[in-house]
Amino acid sequence: MITALCPGSFDPPTNGHIDVIRRTAGFADRVVVAVVGNPSKAAMFPPERRVELFRETVTEWTDIDTRFDVIAHHGLLVDLVEPHGIDVIVKGVRAGDDYQNEHRMAQMNRSIGGVETLLLPTSPEWSFVASSLVREIVRLGGSVEHLVPPAVQRALGETR
Ligand code: PNS
Repeated sequence: MITALCPGSFDPPTNGHIDVIRRTAGFADRVVVAVVGNPSKAAMFPPERRVELFRETVTEWTDIDTRFDVIAHHGLLVDLVEPHGIDVIVKGVRAGDDYQNEHRMAQMNRSIGGVETLLLPTSPEWSFVASSLVREIVRLGGSVEHLVPPAVQRALGETR
C-alpha cells in the first residue's frame, strides 16, 4: 500500500493543485493533503479554512473520497512522514523556476528525512495557474471562477 503526501500552502487551492492531487490518487492508495501554514506570509484564508475547502472538495469526489486525509501542518514536512506512514511526497511542477525550487526541496527532504519526492508536471491547461496570481486577481476585483474548485469559488463569493 502506497501513501502519498501532497503538501502545499494552497492559499487558495486551485484547479492546478486539484489536478495533481487527483492524479496522485491514480497511483497511490491513500493521499494525505497537508496544508502548510507560513506565519510570515499574509494569507487569503487561514490554514484551517483551507483545510475545510479541501475537505468540501474531496467530499464531492464520491468515487475516491475515502482515500484522502486533509490536515493542517505548521512544522517540517519530514515530521509528517512517520506518523502518517508516508512513502512518497508528490509535488506538481509548472515551469523551469518551479522545477529548480522543487528539485532543491526534494533533495533537502531526502537529506533530512530520507523521503523521496515525485515531481509531476502539471497538466498544460493549468500550467499558468498559481495561487499568488489568483490572490492578486481577486484583490484587484477580477474573476477566477474557472481556475479554482467550486468550494473555493463559494468561499471567494462570501468574502466579496
Ligand atoms: O505551495 P508551496 O509554496 O509550493 O508549498 C511549499 C511547502 C509548504 C511545501 C514548503 O514550504 C514546505 O515544505 N514547508 C514546510 C517546512 C519545511 O519542511 N521546510 C523545509 C523544506 S526543504
